[in-house]
Amino acid sequence: MCGIVGYTGKLNAVEVVLSGLRKLEYRGYDSAGIAMLHDCSMDVLRAVGRVDALARKTANISYVPHNAIGHTRWASHGRPSEINAHPHCDNTGQIAVVHNGIVENYSTLRSELLQSGAKFLSETDTEVAAVLIGHLYKGNLVEAVIQATQRFEGTFALGVVCIDHPDMIVGARRGPPLAVGAADDGAMMLASDALPILPYTRNVCYLEDNQIVALQPGKMELYANGVQIEARLQKICWTAEESERGGYRHYMLKEIYEQPAVLRRLAANLVANAGSLSPVSPPTFNLDNFPLNNDALRKLSRVVIVAQGTAFHAGLIGRNMIERTVRIPVSVEYGSDFQYRDPVIDPSVLVISVSQSGETADTLGAVRLAKERGCTTLAIINTVGSTIARESHGVIYMHAGLEIGVASTKAFTAQIAALYVLAIHIGLQRGTLSDADAVRRVADLLQVASRVDEALACAEQVKAVALKYKDSANALFLGRGTGFPLALEGALKLKEISYVHAEGYDAAEMKHGPIALIDERMPVIVLALKGRRYDKIISNIQEVKARGGRVIVIASHDDTEIADKVDDVIRVHDDRGIMNSIVCAIPFQLFAYEIAVARNCDVDKPRNLAKSLTIE
Ligand code: M6R
Repeated sequence: MCGIVGYTGKLNAVEVVLSGLRKLEYRGYDSAGIAMLHDCSMDVLRAVGRVDALARKTANISYVPHNAIGHTRWASHGRPSEINAHPHCDNTGQIAVVHNGIVENYSTLRSELLQSGAKFLSETDTEVAAVLIGHLYKGNLVEAVIQATQRFEGTFALGVVCIDHPDMIVGARRGPPLAVGAADDGAMMLASDALPILPYTRNVCYLEDNQIVALQPGKMELYANGVQIEARLQKICWTAEESERGGYRHYMLKEIYEQPAVLRRLAANLVANAGSLSPVSPPTFNLDNFPLNNDALRKLSRVVIVAQGTAFHAGLIGRNMIERTVRIPVSVEYGSDFQYRDPVIDPSVLVISVSQSGETADTLGAVRLAKERGCTTLAIINTVGSTIARESHGVIYMHAGLEIGVASTKAFTAQIAALYVLAIHIGLQRGTLSDADAVRRVADLLQVASRVDEALACAEQVKAVALKYKDSANALFLGRGTGFPLALEGALKLKEISYVHAEGYDAAEMKHGPIALIDERMPVIVLALKGRRYDKIISNIQEVKARGGRVIVIASHDDTEIADKVDDVIRVHDDRGIMNSIVCAIPFQLFAYEIAVARNCDVDKPRNLAKSLTIE
């Protein structure tokens, strides 16, 4: 998704902005640009491709600007090209605008502006925004931005500069996030997330919807609905170092290896009495922001989980956990569909959103609809202070740390663990889970990090298997029960970072159609742990082998028979009951990673993808 960085202060603004844009690269983009103010004039440079291409252009400037706004663009209106890249200027060339989001009524506004003589160079909605701001500008930039944003339908985070105000940046937000930072030396920054700001200050304020901010060195003025209000800065607790690769070749790999630590931290944060568990001392949880008291929990009629992508897959696993533990119906919905389908929900329904970023527009829309219908909303979120976290009645933070790799890994397993805790908590409150069972389950949670450590120790073996199949054009992932969402997730990981066409299916569903695809060129990755459905999975494996397919299994560590039936075996310790889904995610993640590396793909910045999808 597009990224915005702005800086006004004593340093070289080009250097600050370019380094900030590099920190936002993980969000995904296809072009970049910068507007630099200097001596009552402004230069705008743009480049298709990486920030490095833009940096080569800025290397030729002969002055040191102290105010600049920059942008990485993820194409929504108009193909990736220099002309469509941001910043865009108004017709006088005095005002430059960077924008994240979509101005949905841009064609109406464009027609109006054309009638009054405006000209447009690009196909973008952002140029319409710039031209409108220029049209409304009568010497007061804040006022012009306020008036223009009142006319916008849709979503936006904006950064605006004007040569009449050479040290000022104006920011505006409705939808996509926008953070501002105030450094001790008076410098002010604006960015799509806190990462570009952190090297300069940890004092950050996230704009709320419909807020506008005017930044000048030593001065920050915040406006809500046109009225000036006090800006409240908060201290960001994670460090700039967390955003580094820490010796790993890719962020994705680093994040895969962070999972044991993340799970240990999550358990330590959420389980209040981990050190003294016993059947007479059942688990209690640190759920300070839990939105339902015990009485309300007992009255719940059902649960709806809303999410997208990987978080949706975690939601499917969470559904199984909650249903099994609480005996209450749970459905899992794409927020994108849920919010427009007029779903049947009422105040007795708990709507749980799951999101790493807490900014996914599709999920946010579902949360807003649920609130409108009187449902209680609970968010399971990684990014502290994000929009979904703020707008929900309650929040459980995963504290998985910054996830930069576009392919979500540690957030996935943390989401499963958080949903697991939630299932135990509700089960205890509703009396469907005995104290002894709750103790056993929490013991499993406390142990799962060690099992993940063991699974990571198989990385070399996973790599060897991956290299055997790296040239396959397709892959099928199969699982049953909780293995089905894992199959979906395994396929998603593979396709998003290695561009191999992959599908995940319930293993039983294979015979209803996908079996037609099986031949000797089709690797089939099957989750085949010992357990209730083991015999059925073995039958599905035999169906694949009978048609010449090549089978890789993720198998139980003590399964001595399976090797004869398949081509490759990756073993995991699977003695953690319902927590096994976390352990089994590891080989799927590593498999996708190794194939992507072997195919020379840009693992952390896969084509066409964005980390945080703030548009519908
Ligand atoms: O930030 P969110 O968890 O709400 O993001 C949801 C999806 O966009 C995300 O999981 C996406 O599918 C990832 N690229 C998966 O690796």
